[in-house]
Amino acid sequence: MKKYGVNELRKMFLAYFQEKEHLVMKSFSLVPHNDNSLLLINSGMAPLKPYFTGQEIPPKRRVATCQKCIRTGDIENIGKTARHGTFFEMLGNFSFGDYFKSEALHFAWEFLTERVGLEKDRLYPSIYLEDEEAFKVWNEEIGIPADRIYRFGKKDNFWEHGVGPCGPCSEIYYDRGEKYGTGPEDVMGGEGDRFLEVWNVVFSQFNNDGKGNYTDLIQKNIDTGMGLERLAVVCQDVPSLFDVDTNQAMMTEIESLSGKKYLEDKTADVSFRIIADHVKSCTFMASDGIMPSNEGRGYVFRRLLRRAARHGRILGIPAGSLSKLSEKAIALSSDGYPELSEKKDMILRVISEEEDRFNKTIDNGLAILQGLKEDLQKKGEKLLSGEDAFRLYDTYGFPLDLTKEILEDSGITVDEEAFQQAMKVQRETARAARKSTNYMGRDDVYQNLDASLQTE
Ligand code: ALA
Repeated sequence: MKKYGVNELRKMFLAYFQEKEHLVMKSFSLVPHNDNSLLLINSGMAPLKPYFTGQEIPPKRRVATCQKCIRTGDIENIGKTARHGTFFEMLGNFSFGDYFKSEALHFAWEFLTERVGLEKDRLYPSIYLEDEEAFKVWNEEIGIPADRIYRFGKKDNFWEHGVGPCGPCSEIYYDRGEKYGTGPEDVMGGEGDRFLEVWNVVFSQFNNDGKGNYTDLIQKNIDTGMGLERLAVVCQDVPSLFDVDTNQAMMTEIESLSGKKYLEDKTADVSFRIIADHVKSCTFMASDGIMPSNEGRGYVFRRLLRRAARHGRILGIPAGSLSKLSEKAIALSSDGYPELSEKKDMILRVISEEEDRFNKTIDNGLAILQGLKEDLQKKGEKLLSGEDAFRLYDTYGFPLDLTKEILEDSGITVDEEAFQQAMKVQRETARAARKSTNYMGRDDVYQNLDASLQTE
């Protein structure tokens, strides 16, 4: 099998679906448009929801994209497993009321086996329990023996993400072999690293109203998602997402900044991976106009960047290095996302200013946290008060998660309820202050804007 690079695989995927009469669209912004249910775009289908529901007419009934995505739900696993990252690219082909199960599964199979050249005997499909139609396509049309087709329940083979289009799905797993695991979790559908799910083909035919009520969509759709980096893991036969060619180049850069070697020390490796992943997320967020702040998307940015900065300190990379790493991330991904080089100066400025802001206070904050930790240990207590955690946040810029993470190793937790209460009080005070001072004169500014102006 040829070891295609990440940038090559992205091109191959889009070219394949263009051949199959799909309209190749540019990745949408990470900032959802007219969708309050999401903070950040987290899958290829998210920006296309109105086309699935029939609310809007798509530019073509067949579309393919490589969508930049961010998911932070598994943040504490980042760097510890082979397959978790906050930033990833999702390759997807979509049918809005055009082709359905049979063609979608044939496309996926042909692309993986004929174009990428994966060995057929290492691929295993899974289907939703009673989906006989999908079973027939795999078994009778594609020729996979029945005992290699796995049937799983709703947890694994019904795709939904809160409100919106959803449906049963068929996933394709790749067996990477015993060298990646022989434990009880290394089975089809298990949590181990041996069988890796590479492609999810969703038969998107229902709408979930968010309260568990499902209604038929006006058309049957296809929504697929394949993690580009995961495909590269399989194709390049490397242990984890962090070892594919583009991430490897990030590791080399971190090695030269830190003077440490990647893959020599397990604890340091986690820091290497966190830095590489989080800097990439922040680079892409900045390119889409997300600025670090204390709320919403801006908070995700701040949290990731500060986490990267702290791990940078653990590795001993000099202060101010994150923008150098961001520059590397821009060079590695501009092929697929030209906006990164177009906005390079702005991205690097945002990253270096946020890193500077954090560096100015981190030493004081760390010393205070160390003191608080020692006090608790002396008293034999295991809970940091919400007020102390809030002071670290408010005065020293420590996101709550960072405080929690630093204390985790000593078995100390934070009184989060009291933290949130302190945060609420502060927000209310700030809001009241803004009202009484006409903060930045904003009312006048907005009132005087020409109502016909459009913004993106
Ligand atoms: N929307 C599906 C997923 O994200 C394809 O896995």
